[in-house]
Amino acid sequence: MRSMVSSTSSRGIAAIVGVGPKLGRSIARKFAHEGYTVAILARDLGRLSRFADEIAREEMAQVFAIRIDCSESRSVREAFEGVLSLGFVEVLVYNAYQSVANWQPTSFADVKIDSFQKSIAVSSVGAFHCAQQVLPGMVERGRGTILFTGCSASLNGIAGYSELCCGKFALRALSQCLAREFQPLGVHVAHVIIDGIIGAPRGPSASRTLQQRSSVGEQQSAEGDGSMDPDTIARTYWQLHIQNRSAWTQEIDLRPYNSRSYNF
Ligand SMILES: NC(=O)c1ccc[n+]([C@@H]2O[C@H](COP(=O)([O-])OP(=O)(O)OC[C@H]3O[C@@H](n4cnc5c(N)ncnc54)[C@H](OP(=O)(O)O)[C@@H]3O)[C@@H](O)[C@H]2O)c1
Repeated sequence: MRSMVSSTSSRGIAAIVGVGPKLGRSIARKFAHEGYTVAILARDLGRLSRFADEIAREEMAQVFAIRIDCSESRSVREAFEGVLSLGFVEVLVYNAYQSVANWQPTSFADVKIDSFQKSIAVSSVGAFHCAQQVLPGMVERGRGTILFTGCSASLNGIAGYSELCCGKFALRALSQCLAREFQPLGVHVAHVIIDGIIGAPRGPSASRTLQQRSSVGEQQSAEGDGSMDPDTIARTYWQLHIQNRSAWTQEIDLRPYNSRSYNF
């Protein structure tokens, strides 16, 4: 576990599960910017620690990097022992997914059961475990926010993407069940469908990220090829969190202005 400072916030912890260079990092940065102590979780602790140091320094925030493998219940339990030792969890964002190699479709006959199970484990079973870790505390306090990240594969079966679709469909179902059960107890549960390709940040953190980026392809993505800005998406997560409970969103979809068809 890494941090820049030692004491934690009385506002509670924002735990962001599944933090890589795109959306996860932007969500972590947004909640840190808004004054939360943030725990960021994924498998690559070295990369996470760099993100934690960067966000802590730039946002003057407390950011803790904790290793988790969402496909293993024991790893989730151990990781959340670490998270909960920092304080109570006010916000859980579940963002982890098993990415598809090169985004190429796989003929169903070639899908390996291990890979299928892994995708479902990461997309949905991991979300189940993480939600079970934080819900008792949220119910006890009568407040909290749980946000799940979906995509258009959460809604539509797509030829060649059965692993992704099955995991994401299940995550959406989990989100709806939890919303119905826990909203009356004060816990806001929402599902965010991202219908587009997420690019590199173009917001305040863009110039830093551009300097760090080497490939021309990634630079083009940040300059307007129709990809979605993760910093902008992260603002929607924040807005969901601060929504007044008299009118909570259960599901929202986001897509680029010029999109005509469904993406993954
Ligand atoms: N990228 C897109 O174009 C796109 C489009 C629509 C929707 N989405 C959704 O948006 C979310 C974020 O996608 P992103 O591409 O922006 O990724 P990201 O937030 O940059 O990173 C997600 C991270 O999840 C982590 N992860 C993968 N398997 C894990 C496991 N078993 N346990 C713990 N963490 C794990 C990976 O880090 P480690 O390898 O370090 O574990 C990965 O970097 C996903 O839910 C995705 O379905 C993405």
